Amino acid sequence: MSPICKHVDALTGYTPGEQPRFDGMVKLNTNENPYPPSPGVQDALKAFDWEKLRLYPDPVCNKVRALIAEQNGCTADQVFVGNGSDEILALFTRAFVEVGGSIGYFDPTYSLYSVLAAIRDATVKPFPLNDDFTCSTPPADYADAFIWTNPNAPTSLMADPEMIAEFAKSFKGVLLIDEAYADFAPANCMAVATAAENTNTLVMRTLSKSYSLAGMRFGYCVGPKPLIDALYKIKDSYNMDALAQVIGYAALADQAHMKRNAEAIIATRVNLAAALTARGWQVLPSASNFLFAKPPVEAATLFAALRERHIFVRYFPAPKTKDYLRITIGTPAEVEKLLAVLADYNA
Ligand SMILES: Cc1ncc(COP(=O)(O)O)c(C=O)c1O
Repeated sequence: MSPICKHVDALTGYTPGEQPRFDGMVKLNTNENPYPPSPGVQDALKAFDWEKLRLYPDPVCNKVRALIAEQNGCTADQVFVGNGSDEILALFTRAFVEVGGSIGYFDPTYSLYSVLAAIRDATVKPFPLNDDFTCSTPPADYADAFIWTNPNAPTSLMADPEMIAEFAKSFKGVLLIDEAYADFAPANCMAVATAAENTNTLVMRTLSKSYSLAGMRFGYCVGPKPLIDALYKIKDSYNMDALAQVIGYAALADQAHMKRNAEAIIATRVNLAAALTARGWQVLPSASNFLFAKPPVEAATLFAALRERHIFVRYFPAPKTKDYLRITIGTPAEVEKLLAVLADYNA
């Protein structure tokens, strides 16, 4: 008999974006930030007392939680800090979905959700997006928990925060609004999470994208204290290491740096979208740090050709997404290189 749990044996794990094998690749496949983190991060690293590594870190991240609370207009006990938002998503499935319960999310969306649901041995309930990748509101009793990604990945589209706020009010389960890309969007749902009457909604952010800290692993979510308490109850004792707490604090404290980089990325996004449109691509109106776009030639072939030329973008072969490529916004120089190579393939 297999020593592996049946549901683990049956599931297919998450496939992360490909890592470059050597320097000089143009990596536009995992929505990382092309610019370095705040200089405050470098200062914090230099000032970090390595001898302190012999001590356990603060198990509940008090200092950085206080900063996040201040920045978002809530109290520190409404903030949970996690080892990347991926950890928070895993904890969410464990805290708010019974074994055999159900988890809803849009289809297509971030492909980790279905894997986490399978790990939880929960029923997955993908709610189809419309043909143009916009979304409709799911029914109030759709699932025990729902993850609403806004802006959505890989589609790059943003739903009106009012629409999500209305859903939050009617939804019978626990709602997590995954705002990994909110700093590149014109609006967000943080006010839903911090509203006094809210009892069922969490808003989650990551430092991986707009704060250029994908290598650090730092995410957080904000919401009603009872839900936050439940996450703290089940997390690993020391889920955030000492360095992550110090560096996360430094990055969050430098809002000006983050906003400058986000603005630069948005400007490059606008330019790339215009250039691709002029070449016959269908580009969805992005509110994130990537484009989701249909090339004038076969997407799968173009993806492979770009890879051969050392440009990584992301391709999702599922029926709804197979005609599109997801392209992370890089520096203007990276985008120029991409456009030059695309021209060789009539794209
Ligand atoms: C929608 C969405 N949520 C969460 C994450 C994961 O973020 P983190 O790096 O904080 O684990 C990603 C990463 O690509 C994402 O696209």
